[in-house]
Amino acid sequence: MAQTILVTGGAGYIGSHVCKALAKAGFRPVAYDNLIQGHRWAVRWGPLELGELSDGDRLDAVIAAHRPAAVMHFAAHIAAGESVDDPGKYYDNNVSGLLSLLAAMRRGGVDRLVFSSTAAVYGTPRYAPIDEGHPQEPINPYGASKMMAERVLADFAHAHGIRTAALRYFNAAGADPDGEIGEAHDPETHLIPIVLETAAGLRPEVVVFGDRYATADGTCVRDYVHVADLADAHVRALRWLADRTGAHAFNLGNGEGFSVRQVIEAARRVTSRPIRARVEAAREGDPATLVADASHARAVLGWRPRYHSLDTQLSHAWRWLASRHALNGAGTTLANRRSSTERAPADALGLTS
Ligand code: UFG
Repeated sequence: MAQTILVTGGAGYIGSHVCKALAKAGFRPVAYDNLIQGHRWAVRWGPLELGELSDGDRLDAVIAAHRPAAVMHFAAHIAAGESVDDPGKYYDNNVSGLLSLLAAMRRGGVDRLVFSSTAAVYGTPRYAPIDEGHPQEPINPYGASKMMAERVLADFAHAHGIRTAALRYFNAAGADPDGEIGEAHDPETHLIPIVLETAAGLRPEVVVFGDRYATADGTCVRDYVHVADLADAHVRALRWLADRTGAHAFNLGNGEGFSVRQVIEAARRVTSRPIRARVEAAREGDPATLVADASHARAVLGWRPRYHSLDTQLSHAWRWLASRHALNGAGTTLANRRSSTERAPADALGLTS
């Protein structure tokens, strides 16, 4: 019988792609989500259990009902900018939420956890590319909350034998290569969806946050990694942990950086649309360059990203955006967008980007 994996945040962007990858690999994903950020339509490869991370009784009931072999934990707040203004929200959900989950895992006898972490644990890079041994000096409460969560995992591994792999993503990008699911944040703060929404006429322009960074063109450089490649790494980490102990960490990125200007230029090419851009002041808490050294994941997990090309990431995200908003191919503007209501991709079948 297929092993069950409990996926907190399984209705979210990365969590839903991981559920698909788990199902393809022969596991049975059970999504646990409160649907505040996640979407019911994104849960397609197993059941959805509604619940809060803080609700220990609900977690106990779900673990008792499904008897998961392991947990994958994605349910967290992710906006670095917001975390500066509302740190309590981040520590509460990202640290206290994890403690609640770990307590339920212990009560239910589940000892394996794959954890969604971030390059934000490193802060301003002292060198590039960044490997896992780089000092952790987060520059916003979001990164600090993930660093603290990883520390909690190390302590639980030591004291209680919980086996964990923390996967530190650089910039997640793209959408399901089959076009079934993709990114749908509200509000959207990430560069690539904002650039593509501008190409689609859903926004008037892209605001570039600063052009005086110490980079080739003055705009921030990031390492974009395809969400399907991230999902593959999670399945690999889950299997790898089956006969390991302790707490482990892996960077996930392609080792190649693209500036904000390069992303906009690539999106013009991929979409064949004009994209207006205007430079404004730099955003607080943005390091100039973040590029991964992911050789540990390559060597230990055998991870080989398939969709490392930025153009491929953009074209998958573009197709997803088109289906989600039911855009009518070239020339789409706000005026001919059928509805601002969020749609399941199935509603838009047959439409092209
Ligand atoms: N940017 C703009 N304009 C926008 C949005 C973003 O210029 O409208 C710039 C940002 O300043 C940054 C780059 O585009 O330089 C990428 O920004 P994103 O918001 O897409 O992503 P971040 O690099 O800020 O953060 C992402 C995830 C975090 C994660 C981090 C780790 O959102 O959760 O990567 O690298 F921690």
